[in-house]
Amino acid sequence: MGSPEQNEWKKAAAEAAAKLVEDGMVVGLGTGSTAAFFVRALARRISKERLRIAGIPTSRQTAAQARKLKIPLATFAGHAQIDLTVDGADEVETGTLYLIKGHGGALLREKIVAAGSKRMIVVADESKIVERLGSLVSVPVEIVQFGWQATERKLNELGGRPALRLGAGKKPFVTDGGNYIFDCAFGPMQQPKEVAHHLDHVVGAVEHGLFLGFTREVIVGGRDGVKVLKSR
Ligand code: A5P
Repeated sequence: MGSPEQNEWKKAAAEAAAKLVEDGMVVGLGTGSTAAFFVRALARRISKERLRIAGIPTSRQTAAQARKLKIPLATFAGHAQIDLTVDGADEVETGTLYLIKGHGGALLREKIVAAGSKRMIVVADESKIVERLGSLVSVPVEIVQFGWQATERKLNELGGRPALRLGAGKKPFVTDGGNYIFDCAFGPMQQPKEVAHHLDHVVGAVEHGLFLGFTREVIVGGRDGVKVLKSR
């Protein structure tokens, strides 16, 4: 969570996104504190306006929240495509609207849902907006547990300075898919597409948190209210 002010900004962005949901839509439900505000706002609309919505969650955590709020859930078995996905991000690059995601540990399901969506709207507070991706946070890379030390060496060779993410009791954090995460500090990236290309080819890596070209609109909450960024 952020400061109370930041949470208000996240909430404002999330509530603006919830207004864009239409009756009958299949909606991708993101993960993280900003997405949680969206899920709450969506649940309110469903109960007030009797919207018929099917939600596809990007994590067990979001599924649990949605179930509690009585949002009907679905899977890709019943829907070939998602109409609209709303998710948060850890960094948003101005202009391109390229993203870093996965600091909540849900990047694999988030990317599958984003890739299966006609439209993805990102909701964020203004502290996440950067000139160059990698300026504030590292790039999470989800890897299979088997041979993780070998995968770590490969990530090191790419200049990622990988750090194994730890969870409760200082044990490795395990994702919903049963994998580990390496947080890779590439620093500000001149060529994020190249970095993504290299990460795509690391054996043992399942997916990475560079989301390039997935969204064309980001709703940003900040001190001057809510703004919509569109990709150039
Ligand atoms: C989850 O894995 C992430 O991709 C989140 O979407 C991201 O970390 C943003 O989280 P907050 O909305 O909590 O900042």
